[in-house]
Amino acid sequence: MTTAQSSSAALTLTRPDDWHLHVRDGAMLAAVLPHTARQFARAIIMPNLKPPVTTTAQAEAYRARIVAALPPGVQFEPLMTLYLTDNTPADEIRRARASGVVHGVKLYPAGATTNSDAGVTDVMKCAKTLEAMQDAGMPLLVHGEVTDSAIDLFDREKVFIERVMEPLRRAFPALKVVFEHITTKDAADYVRDADAAPGLLGATITAHHLLYNRNAMFIGGIRPHYYCLPVLKRETHRLALVEAATSGNPRFFLGTDSAPHPKGLKQQACGCAGCYTALHALELYAEAFDQAGALERLEGFASFFGADFYGLPRNSEQITLARESWTLPDELMVGDASVVPLGGGEAIGWRLR
Ligand code: DOR
Ligand code: ZN
Repeated sequence: MTTAQSSSAALTLTRPDDWHLHVRDGAMLAAVLPHTARQFARAIIMPNLKPPVTTTAQAEAYRARIVAALPPGVQFEPLMTLYLTDNTPADEIRRARASGVVHGVKLYPAGATTNSDAGVTDVMKCAKTLEAMQDAGMPLLVHGEVTDSAIDLFDREKVFIERVMEPLRRAFPALKVVFEHITTKDAADYVRDADAAPGLLGATITAHHLLYNRNAMFIGGIRPHYYCLPVLKRETHRLALVEAATSGNPRFFLGTDSAPHPKGLKQQACGCAGCYTALHALELYAEAFDQAGALERLEGFASFFGADFYGLPRNSEQITLARESWTLPDELMVGDASVVPLGGGEAIGWRLR
């Protein structure tokens, strides 16, 4: 059933959820959380804090800090995750499941991205823990890139499929797996074609990987605000991601991977990876689906398939996006620092009412 209604001027759909989000902590959390809570009813919160969220007790405390940072009267549910390490005990999975607030466990290959140093060096070291996850129906959320420096940066997702994803899924055939922020045709094809029972395999796709190819990082000079991991790929991959997202296949759902960094940490000799999209995520997705002539497919991708995958009820409230041009702020102040939203200073053609 679809309840989405669109006209040339507006699009009304069930309030969406963000199935992959970074909100950080402290002053940054307080600054960015209202943006997400305005757009989404719920979000899967990434655990790559410093130090990472590795236990259920830490996830519960982080959840309380997030709830405390919500503006008064705003309804928003943070869905917590644990950060998998080589030493996560199987018992921690049982505690996580029993808590009712932890909805996934994140696999960062050690060294793959921001705050991943404590990540996993070899997934098979986690076999007992993965078995416990399989038994508990606890999803494994996967940053799918190998860290082998001999592999070209642009090939690391493709190689991950052969070296890690496929052996992992063969070893744990009933484990729920989300291939996070896919960026290649290889990953889109893999997820679409994989032999997996309904609800066992999913993939999130960011708005920036739907809208931009790797040229965006180099137009007229180096553009650090378009740098994220996995890095933007060539146009053939972007087209495959748009096809997957707009296909109506419930294995593909929305995950912004909005990842705020202070401007100074992105604009330096070695800039951090991450695009900030929480401010205007739905507008960006609407732009991508509109360009593909597939606005009627946005609601399934944004509002239904992720909830179904995670076994959570679909939201009942609605939101409306208007076809209306507005200019994104150049930057957003966070205490003494600022965050540059993706496309800051440029016009965007949709606006959340
Ligand atoms: O671009 C990214 N930023 N990719 C990630 O995997 C992590 C994220 C972050 O935490 O900044
Ligand atoms: Zn992320």
